[in-house]
Amino acid sequence: MAYAVPKLTGFSATALDSAVREFLSALDQESAAVGSENDWKAFRDRWMARKNGILTQVNNFWLKAAPDETKREVGQRVNELKARTTETVERIKPKRSVYAGARGGRIDGTAKPEGVSLKSQVGIPYGIDERPLDITLPGIRRPIGVEHPVLKTMNEIIGVFRNLGYSVEEGPEIETDYYNFEALNFPPNHPARDTQDTLFIAGQESKPLRDRLLLRTHTSPVQIRTMQKMKPPVRVVCPGKVHRNDAPDATHSPIFHQVEGLAVDTNVTFCDLKGTLDHAMKALFGSSVKTRFYPSFFPFTEPSADVQISCIFCDGKGVRDGAPCRNCKASGWIELLGCGMVDPNVYGFVDYDPAKVSGFAFGMGVERIAILKYGVDDIQLFFQGDVRFLEQFG
Ligand code: PHE
Repeated sequence: MAYAVPKLTGFSATALDSAVREFLSALDQESAAVGSENDWKAFRDRWMARKNGILTQVNNFWLKAAPDETKREVGQRVNELKARTTETVERIKPKRSVYAGARGGRIDGTAKPEGVSLKSQVGIPYGIDERPLDITLPGIRRPIGVEHPVLKTMNEIIGVFRNLGYSVEEGPEIETDYYNFEALNFPPNHPARDTQDTLFIAGQESKPLRDRLLLRTHTSPVQIRTMQKMKPPVRVVCPGKVHRNDAPDATHSPIFHQVEGLAVDTNVTFCDLKGTLDHAMKALFGSSVKTRFYPSFFPFTEPSADVQISCIFCDGKGVRDGAPCRNCKASGWIELLGCGMVDPNVYGFVDYDPAKVSGFAFGMGVERIAILKYGVDDIQLFFQGDVRFLEQFG
């Protein structure tokens, strides 16, 4: 039988004692049975509702009914019962999320239907985390990213030239034919264009060739842009992303990165170029590395050269562990970058006087250098975004 507040007939201490005992044991029993939030609300209302809650009844049936001479005594007891009830209601109040989950019920007290989450039931994108709180679980690790090996290498190359007093210039990745080819002394239809097979932006047939947009094939157009806005002396490096119509394989990628350099001043000679690049290669690969300049051709430099470094895998011997070195095809040399003295024709495009100034330019592939520095055997690894590969560079 559920507890009901008795109407008191006697107000002796003994009668009060037994009424209080009955009240408290009912309070204990009913509070112990509270499980869900709904149970708790019902419990709170049954005992504390202003209108007809048990405490109100106690007030009416006991205190108001008490003869004047017992009112003080009864009042004290009733106050104690009020305090106990309030304390009990507060103490057993379900704590949001933690208790609801721990008891396997939902916050609104209804049982959790199997296989249906609270979120989907309520239809809101956020919800109350129903999992019990386990404070012994280790915290969530948030790994800090590392610099991508391509950017890391690029920054290292830039650093070498910054220390020599070069500044950094950047330019657009979508270029006009003029900056990518014409001003660099690649005339229209010149076969040298074929060495840098280009990706043109479609639908530009109505424009003159020089204005047509393409994905730049090298960062050399930044040399032109720089010389247009600066008078000599100029010393800049131009890092950036470039595109070529190349099928991807272990050593080719249609997207890759370059750092180009340009130095123009009075009396700049091929010796300056050799000294600068020899120093840069030693700074990048170690002081025992040797360099060799091999005749080559670029339309915008004359003379032009390919720079080779002594093989860092076999120390230039061509033989490693008794077998021919695979990295340099047993030659002892690895070809690494292109360079040359700026062709006087180029100065004509930027209003420099070739009779007064001279200069050199060079360009290197960042991935190629990263591959050698870190012993990577496939250029594609740089672009696949596999963290197992990338985190090795942290
Ligand atoms: N722009 C050339 C290339 O991408 C490299 C280069 C730069 C060669 C500067 C000479 C001077 O192949």
